[in-house]
Amino acid sequence: MALRDIIILPDKRLRLVSKPVAKVDASVRKLIEDMFETMYDAPGIGLAAIQVGEPKRIVTVDLAKKDEPREPQVFINPEVIAHSEEKKVHEEGCLSIPEYYEEVERPAEVTVRYLDIEGKQQEIAAKGLLATCLQHEIDHLNGVLFIDHISKLKRDRVVKKFAKAAKLASEKRAAE
Ligand code: NI
Repeated sequence: MALRDIIILPDKRLRLVSKPVAKVDASVRKLIEDMFETMYDAPGIGLAAIQVGEPKRIVTVDLAKKDEPREPQVFINPEVIAHSEEKKVHEEGCLSIPEYYEEVERPAEVTVRYLDIEGKQQEIAAKGLLATCLQHEIDHLNGVLFIDHISKLKRDRVVKKFAKAAKLASEKRAAE
């Protein structure tokens, strides 16, 4: 296993549309292992492959609380095939937009079709935190970030802040 770097806003790769996984082979399983290691290290509850720079439709999730045993879940080529009319607001954050949290409204329940680690098709009916998390991560696979669901005013403010931080960091590197 290897720890990967998580890419941060405004990295343009976050806007890529990830490609479906054709076959769940050894290289895909290796990437999934790396994603779990990176997600646990961060720590975070969900990660999309593009966040470690791999434009593949893979999502890792673990919603277990700190003092509970780990519950790793992997979703390959996940797709929302149905959602509730009812919506819910949850506070969201993202490992690619560190230290920023905002309330986002999404369908309260979703049905997601995906491939498991054996490459077998599965479906899951998700609600609560899992529903939010899966929608957030599937968005990543389509180049969409949770800040795209908040007001333009708030989004512009956070994008500007991260762009400025990235510029300062690159100037600092150039000066060294
Ligand atoms: Ni995210």
